[in-house]
Amino acid sequence: MISEATRAPSAPLPAATLARFDREVAKYPPDQKQSAVMACLAIVQQELGFVSLDSEHAIAEHLGMAPIAVHEVTTFYNMYNQQPVGKYKLNVCTNLPCQLRDGQHALHHLEKKLGIHMGETTADGLFTLQQSECLGACADSPVMLVNDRTMCSFMSDDKLDQLIDGLKKAEA
Ligand code: FES
Repeated sequence: MISEATRAPSAPLPAATLARFDREVAKYPPDQKQSAVMACLAIVQQELGFVSLDSEHAIAEHLGMAPIAVHEVTTFYNMYNQQPVGKYKLNVCTNLPCQLRDGQHALHHLEKKLGIHMGETTADGLFTLQQSECLGACADSPVMLVNDRTMCSFMSDDKLDQLIDGLKKAEA
């Protein structure tokens, strides 16, 4: 929970970022500026890599919203990073249908392979491992999403190893 009493005033975002916000705001009627909140969060994440509480406050101020309303959006969606993440963000689905078909096993396999626990980032900054809610591909379980965009299906231990080894090799 955000403690307003203990927070420092938010740092302003660059004018270029606010101009990008305004282009999104212009897509909606003047009395519905807050409809641009998801787009503004995406812009901040694209520019800074994650959405800090300060950024949420700046967005809230710009859109005339309560900061908590922006925070609720940030925390509802997996795609918004609330802290810096590695170059590859791996979200493994562990919802019940996937749990019944090795979703949890896939997560544990990655924890062992990467030497980190769920929610952590490898020391080299390459991988962040997270669990996710249903990705809408239950029949393809185990499934995972890489960097919020690339869906990987039927992720057996072998396929997980190939993916991680391939990404590491590409970065070497
Ligand atoms: S429960 Fe995992 S994709 Fe639906």
